[in-house]
Amino acid sequence: MSYQRWTLRTENTSYTVRLSPDGPWAELDAWGPHGVEIGPSALEGSHRTHFITPADAAPAEYLPHGLRPFADADLIAGRPGSERGVWWTFDGAETEPGTLRLGFTDEVLGLRTVLCYATVPGTDVIHRWTEFFSTGDEELRLERLDSAAVTVPVTTGARLTCLTGQWSREFQYTRTDLVRGTFSIGSTQGAPGHAYAPWLAVQDAAAPLDAPAPAYGVALEWPGNWHITAQAEPGGVVRVRSGRVPHEGAVYLAPGDTLTTPRLACAFSPDGPDGLSRVWHRYERHLAGPRLHRPRKVLYNSWEATGFDVDAAGQLDLAKTAADLGAELFVVDDGWFTGRADDTGGLGDWHPDPAAFPQGFETFVADVRALGLDFGLWVEPEAVSPTSRLYAEHPEWVYRIEGRPGRLVRNQLILDLGRTDVQDFVLTTLDRLLTDYDIGYLKWDMNRPPTERGRPGAGPADRLDLDAQHVHGYLRVLDHLRSAHPDVTVEGCAGGGGRIDHATLARTDVVWPSDNTAPLDRLTIQHGFLHAHAPHLMSSWVTDAPGVFDPRPRSLAFRFVTAMCGVLGIGADLRAWTADQRAEAARWITRYKQVRDVVHQGEARLLGSPDDATCGVQYDSADGSRIVVAAFSTGPLDGAPLVPGRPARLRLRGLDPGAAYRETSSSTTYSGSHLLHYGLPFTWSADHDAELAVLTRR
Ligand code: DGJ
Repeated sequence: MSYQRWTLRTENTSYTVRLSPDGPWAELDAWGPHGVEIGPSALEGSHRTHFITPADAAPAEYLPHGLRPFADADLIAGRPGSERGVWWTFDGAETEPGTLRLGFTDEVLGLRTVLCYATVPGTDVIHRWTEFFSTGDEELRLERLDSAAVTVPVTTGARLTCLTGQWSREFQYTRTDLVRGTFSIGSTQGAPGHAYAPWLAVQDAAAPLDAPAPAYGVALEWPGNWHITAQAEPGGVVRVRSGRVPHEGAVYLAPGDTLTTPRLACAFSPDGPDGLSRVWHRYERHLAGPRLHRPRKVLYNSWEATGFDVDAAGQLDLAKTAADLGAELFVVDDGWFTGRADDTGGLGDWHPDPAAFPQGFETFVADVRALGLDFGLWVEPEAVSPTSRLYAEHPEWVYRIEGRPGRLVRNQLILDLGRTDVQDFVLTTLDRLLTDYDIGYLKWDMNRPPTERGRPGAGPADRLDLDAQHVHGYLRVLDHLRSAHPDVTVEGCAGGGGRIDHATLARTDVVWPSDNTAPLDRLTIQHGFLHAHAPHLMSSWVTDAPGVFDPRPRSLAFRFVTAMCGVLGIGADLRAWTADQRAEAARWITRYKQVRDVVHQGEARLLGSPDDATCGVQYDSADGSRIVVAAFSTGPLDGAPLVPGRPARLRLRGLDPGAAYRETSSSTTYSGSHLLHYGLPFTWSADHDAELAVLTRR
């Protein structure tokens, strides 16, 4: 049969969409390596249905309820008070190199829907989103408005990989099989949340676990409420749809209105979740643009050392020691502003506490800078303490519901950043801080989701779309920081990793994956994080043993090598460190500076997992001339300490088998073939539980 088909090509993949022979909708024809579209579609069914309609059985790219009456729909729309459902006809395609727009119109309802596609240059990612145009003369109600759906042909159900967690335990790499029924992850916390990353990988459940097999990934670019839902359909496919979730349960379109959904990034790799991780890394390097090439400075953050007990003398003491070790940036975290003796006050009143900085904050910043350090500051722009002056002056700026008591989370309220006056307040506050003081780094934190979420007096509450307005306010402020203060590095944080999505990552330079810095817990968090996100974004601190959460002891070397897997920082109380510890730290920082370009800009490969006795991460420079391997002994007895025993080994990947590689600290030369086949040896002992190996190609 011949169909109208369109193929989008990325660096290594093809994505082919066709018009269905069965009705007015688009279907996925093929998605995979270049050429996969030549041959009958693997998603092709028998075109016979019983008890359902062809639309229910189709590998549809996007179908509304109405046209698709029984299987999951991507759009549920109607006029308020009338039957729900859209029955549209195809009204044309627009193509440009790398983009495709497919239009569908329901003239009776007065809704035009356009499915949009765009390839992302230099990557294997395709953006998909949907645009709605209200073309009639009556209001429309959209109670589901997903961004896109993708269909994966599977034989025995799907293997789903997601990143699950909770506060202090984010990014746990989690696999589950879906044979029939529905699997759904998401958040209604006005942020992606700690429970799930807005990210999913799908494979055939029959794919081998220990060998490369095709993997399809999606990630939603939306720092608000969201869902990703996978459904194993009766016809033997798994269909994944994703989109934002309106706080009010629906979005309304007035006649003439248009609405654009967030983008769903869709990625493919023939090499399983591991290969997919490199597709996502490349995509996130693309998001960073030229900012990728600014060296991420070695940071010292005083939060774990001093908590709210911030004053100039104590901070300068820490800054001096940090500078002596080789740190390049000193960040004062929470506690620097008036009224912030603990977490019950101060938020919203963003003025340095004169009692803590008696010579003035400007002098304090200059003193830090005189040590050769850049200066960074923590803020939580959306937060407000009930005892603050800001709240006294503007109680109407927080989310609230008339007649309902507002609850506190971490003793604080949250500003309604959807309001333009609140956005302007935040912009002015940040501009003032960044202009009055010599600040090169800003950590934007957010520690509470909205609970009683309303905006009294703003018209019908069900028409507000507060979640989208907050997201737009947040992104507006981040965009402003980029344009008005381009030299300021921005760190994204939400009580750890509570707000990490591609919209945030496109506007920040690093993110804080978790408040948990205990070495073995952190290794697991970073293992999950690096499946979805690139090393240059992953802020990681060396903190004090036994750690706040996880008492399992590990060496200082282990903590350094773990933090060096991303953007190295130190959060320990350096005042208590011995001369030996400080000397060791200085050596690690020097080594990190020698390899950070490879770690942040090279290709990363995860070697095993923290469940293994020995695991690691391999980073290759773009030209393959330098290989950095961070290796860890996670605890179980492994290799050489056994009697008799041999060194543990990590098999490297992606090397040239015929080339020679010299490991710099031992001066041992290995063939690529040896490293690929036997692996790089590590001789662990009770005191030696981590190593950073650097290999140069000869
Ligand atoms: C939560 C963050 O994740 C921490 O790093 C720290 O900044 C605290 N907030 C400060 O209140």
